[in-house]
Amino acid sequence: MTNVKSEIANILAAQVEGLEAAEIEALIEIPSDSSLGDYAFPCFKLAKVMRKAPAMIAAGIAEAIAEDPMFEKVQQVNAYVNMFLSKSNFARMTLGEILAEGDNYGRSNIGEGKPVIVEYSSPNIAKPFHIGHIRSTVIGNSINKIYDFLGYKVIRINHLGDYGTQFGKMIVAYRKWGNAEDVKNSPIKTLLSYYVKFHEEAEKDPALEDEARATFTKLEHGEKEETELWQWFREESLKEFSRVYDMLGISFDSYAGESFYSDKMPAVLQELKDKGLLKESQGAQIVDLEEYGMTPALITKSDGSSLYITRDISAAIYRKKTYDFVKNIYVVASQQNLHFQQWFKVLELMGYDWYKDCVHIPFGLVSMEDGTMSTRHGRVVFLEDVLNKAVEKTREIIAEKGVAKDEIDETAKMVGIGAVMFNELSNNRIKDYVFSWDKVLNFDGETGPYVQYTHARASSVLRNSGVDTRRFDPAKMDLSYIGGDAAYELVKLLYRFPEVVADAGEKYEPSVVTRHVIDIAQAFNKFYHDEHINVENEDEKQAKLLLTLAAKQTIKNGLELLGIKAPEKM
Ligand code: ARG
Repeated sequence: MTNVKSEIANILAAQVEGLEAAEIEALIEIPSDSSLGDYAFPCFKLAKVMRKAPAMIAAGIAEAIAEDPMFEKVQQVNAYVNMFLSKSNFARMTLGEILAEGDNYGRSNIGEGKPVIVEYSSPNIAKPFHIGHIRSTVIGNSINKIYDFLGYKVIRINHLGDYGTQFGKMIVAYRKWGNAEDVKNSPIKTLLSYYVKFHEEAEKDPALEDEARATFTKLEHGEKEETELWQWFREESLKEFSRVYDMLGISFDSYAGESFYSDKMPAVLQELKDKGLLKESQGAQIVDLEEYGMTPALITKSDGSSLYITRDISAAIYRKKTYDFVKNIYVVASQQNLHFQQWFKVLELMGYDWYKDCVHIPFGLVSMEDGTMSTRHGRVVFLEDVLNKAVEKTREIIAEKGVAKDEIDETAKMVGIGAVMFNELSNNRIKDYVFSWDKVLNFDGETGPYVQYTHARASSVLRNSGVDTRRFDPAKMDLSYIGGDAAYELVKLLYRFPEVVADAGEKYEPSVVTRHVIDIAQAFNKFYHDEHINVENEDEKQAKLLLTLAAKQTIKNGLELLGIKAPEKM
């Protein structure tokens, strides 16, 4: 990717004694006051080597580089060389690169093909896939795309919650009150009703809890009937989850969930014992973490059954062996902060240096405008219902806008689902937020539909221009026509896109991309309103179409990183 700063450093290096281009690059500043130029180079450090006053050095450099096509103007002010970029040269570099790279604009090789695991979604089997799950699912999906774009080899894992005492409860409830027909017809809703019923009954009859525990132990020991029921619940649930993943366009490389580690835990327990980390406490096995200001990590219960945390430790060790990751990323709600701190600490105590490469990426809560949900009492908002409603509502809106009949279904899907995903990714992930239909589907706000609409608008400008943009060669075009303020602001935003992607990756924060895509859309719309694109003058028209094409491409690449489609028409 073109880096203006390093190009400038090369130009300066030819005039400067005693400093390498890389050292010069590190010294170049971006003045906060743009009347002092786009870039500035301080000459204090050169005084010693060049044996001249810094201001004189600056004056000499300014004169020597003034004619370089990179700059519109170069000024010396005290010890500084202030450089104003040539707008058309900058546009040529930036737009030329976008055109050449196309769908790969913004891609880099920062990751050098190193393996990174992104674990996301990870719902619990036989429980509803509800609106709360959208967070890990959609944020994790975007993080995996960003890391892929940065040149890492990404392994996408869905750590299904397919194990644990809740399956004991489910099996007990099914045997007491359930029937196979209902489960087949509507697996999750039915299994959920058993779960709710179990909790209601267990309040009256606590012995049910013991029965559930005993049933889970049977499952852990691989007893036939329990295992078959569990497998069946798992399969039926996965069918439902897959429907939602398909709607969202999300997939995984591995569905190795908690149960996958059941046969790997004994070795880990032994290892913990050998390393002297296990302690007995009221019949249970724990790792004491008091010294580190945390409650103990409960490794096995008094009845010998394993726990969530044990499975996480086993999974991390397995993943290190299998994938040799440089980063192992967990996109999981902030309610589980302590859980992750605890078991990362256990890994450290086990002597695994790579515990440092395990990263918990937390996020806040989502609630609905009309109140929150609670799985136990069955008041649940299913994600699938939300997505269907989004598509329905979008269909009504775009029908009014006159979208062609044969395109309405496809467009409503792209826009409705895109809107929900975009909304999810526009909030800083750690913040709690309230899901609001008005906000999600507002075509004029800072929303998915707004950005998609801008993409479709750019597409239609290009379509209607009658110009074959595939023949564009920025090197030969007169780009002084896109030197106006609105155009230049847009070019600057497009130029920054690769940096923004890298920044989003470093912060594990897709909303950095979302914000930038909104900025580009707004800048394009300002350009579109301020200037006529399809003008008489052929050179001017082509320059403006080139900018339109580059904006469309960058918006598309940005949406792709969010997991959202970019419609040609809307
Ligand atoms: N299944 C868990 C839940 O729904 C989330 C799993 C998170 N991942 C992990 N490795 N612990 O709360």
